[in-house]
Amino acid sequence: MAITKRYTGLIENYRSRLPVSAATRIISLGEGNTPLIQLLNIPALIGKEVEIYVKYEGLNPTGSFKDRGMTMAVTKAVEDGSRAIICASTGNTSASAAAYAVRAGIKAFVLIPEGKIALGKLAQTLMYGAKIIQIRGNFDDGMALVKQVAEHAPVTIVNSINPFRLEGQKTAAFEIVDELGAAPDYHCLPVGNAGNITAYWKGYSEYAADSAGHPAVTDKRPVMCGYQALGASPFVQGKMVDNPETVATAIRIGHPQSWDLAWNVQKESGGWFDALGDEQILLAQKMLAQHEGIFCEPASAASLAGLLVDLESGKIPAGSRIVCTLTGNGLKDPDTAIGQCRDTHPVSIEASLDAVKKAILDSM
Ligand code: F0G
Repeated sequence: MAITKRYTGLIENYRSRLPVSAATRIISLGEGNTPLIQLLNIPALIGKEVEIYVKYEGLNPTGSFKDRGMTMAVTKAVEDGSRAIICASTGNTSASAAAYAVRAGIKAFVLIPEGKIALGKLAQTLMYGAKIIQIRGNFDDGMALVKQVAEHAPVTIVNSINPFRLEGQKTAAFEIVDELGAAPDYHCLPVGNAGNITAYWKGYSEYAADSAGHPAVTDKRPVMCGYQALGASPFVQGKMVDNPETVATAIRIGHPQSWDLAWNVQKESGGWFDALGDEQILLAQKMLAQHEGIFCEPASAASLAGLLVDLESGKIPAGSRIVCTLTGNGLKDPDTAIGQCRDTHPVSIEASLDAVKKAILDSM
């Protein structure tokens, strides 16, 4: 029987809005089309009349939103004849680059800060077979080195300074508008290099500009709210930070690459940047898992943590419709997750019916 409807990735899905031609060989792993899940319990828990949705990007092929940008960046790198890609990464970009390089049959080189990337991300990047170069430095050091290396070697940079990354990532905004019928009032997301906040704004803006010829779309755009970790908060401090530190290693970045672009998003959207303590971020991560059944990585939870603060203060008013991007899957960082649940460590008992019964009754 013929297959009538098959999802083959975001480039095919939004072809007319992306820089590809009929001849382009598309490198895809079926990324995008991620769930937009309405939170059912947290609004009641915090006593607020609000409509909150999370865009669960952890369900992309390598478990983060990076795949949206990577399908585009690697597709274009291959189209331009490139045989190798390179990136600096806090973990997710390296996993994604590694996977898409394999898919394309080219080589991936990744620079990561030694000891500062989550275990799941390292496992992925190793399995995909990328050339991993660990540096005794942080992401910002790695990024500076990658830029220098790319001047001397025939490698394409696939960090978000590659404009095709943002082209791919803007499709998340398209999906949200397609599903909700209009842009939300507020869009909250974690900010590191600020490529993603820039990409979402581009997506919302392109749809809004086109709304006349697109019956399903309005010209509404959301207020963009970017949240950082307190120890890695250059946008909140208004200046670069030299030794960023946070448990949310994905956003342990002090010198964001999309600095001017993100300030422009803030101004145009009437939005803001704010910073959260590591405890607030971890609390939001646990809240999503334990009240909604949604497991994201710590950095992703900064979006909800920030929203909770802004709902409490009234900065984001009751009655709003809000989307939070959950950028990565919770399985990426098992160490931090297990570390957060020390008080609920599994009990160990004899393998007998009596012992199991007792264990169940004890916790009723
Ligand atoms: N959330 C997660 C899970 C990330 O991995 C990143 C960035 C961000 C948020 C921030 O996005 O940089 O566009 O503002 N991770 C990059 C990496 C730096 O190397 O994986 P941004």
